[in-house]
Amino acid sequence: MDSKHTDKTAAPKRSHRLVPKEDRNTVGEKQVENPKMRCEEVSVFYDNGGTKAINSVSLDIGDNEVIAMIGPSGCGKSTFIRCLNRMNDTIEGCRVDGRIYLDGKNIYDRDVDVVPLRARVGMVFQKPNPFPKSIFDNVAYAPRIHGLVTNKSETEELVEKSLIRAGLWNEVKDRLTQPGTGLSGGQQQRLCIARTIAVNPEVILMDEPCSALDPIATAIIEELIEELRQEYAIAIVTHSMQQASRVSQRTAYFHLGDLIEIGPTEQIFLNPLHQLTQDYITGRFG
Ligand SMILES: Nc1ncnc2c1ncn2[C@@H]1O[C@H](COP(=O)(O)OP(=O)(O)OP(=O)(O)O)[C@@H](O)[C@H]1O
Ligand SMILES: [Mg+2]
Repeated sequence: MDSKHTDKTAAPKRSHRLVPKEDRNTVGEKQVENPKMRCEEVSVFYDNGGTKAINSVSLDIGDNEVIAMIGPSGCGKSTFIRCLNRMNDTIEGCRVDGRIYLDGKNIYDRDVDVVPLRARVGMVFQKPNPFPKSIFDNVAYAPRIHGLVTNKSETEELVEKSLIRAGLWNEVKDRLTQPGTGLSGGQQQRLCIARTIAVNPEVILMDEPCSALDPIATAIIEELIEELRQEYAIAIVTHSMQQASRVSQRTAYFHLGDLIEIGPTEQIFLNPLHQLTQDYITGRFG
């Protein structure tokens, strides 16, 4: 091997010095040109102010973008993602400070009704949680409540369309009246995604949606995420760095309640700016 060739294949030399661990200001580009949601100085407290779980986090979620949220256990990923559709409102003693805009409107304004908000910003949880109802009714339930369908044929059409988009239709079309809880874990998760997209959301939040699934079911969900991105903005919490790099365009790295670094996914994983990000992606933390 001549020296020229060796140089070419050597790991690229870092052209910058990493931001030291002690510096907890966010590095990287927090804002995008076409934000669907914009978070400004969001802090979250539990236990009536006794514990601060999120410390002044600002970031954008772009339209037609998948943003991955990563970081060690307990760093506040779930807490943060729950702010985006005011799910933390349901937790006793939890307070959210700061501003979160959806299409320019602060979702924490007094005049915002959380029921339609949660239809616009839907959520898929770690553990698939179908209602104790039939497969059909799992998908039809929310559209009926929100008045999106007015008769049987409209309902049937929407249920079919949602199940097709969630990649589940062929597996369940002959058993729509059977309970949703009787499906496999991966099928249940796709049913929950069908249920979420049935109300025509604009943003989909996913908190570790694949952590209970095998690699095949995971691959199906990941393909689905890529497809859904064409129409929605998606925020996904994941413990899998491989998953983050497969599905997301931008990645946010959290550490003990701070947003340490945010940027294009490739940059975060190949050339991070912060020492803490570097430690995490190389397995030295978490
Ligand atoms: N309901 C709650 N009441 C009080 N403290 C909470 C509550 N939920 C979370 N916390 C605390 O807030 C911090 C962040 O927790 P959170 O669940 O958001 O972390 P996470 O990054 O999602 O972790 P994991 O990767 O394990 O899911 C932790 O210190 C946790 O103990
Ligand atoms: Mg969590």
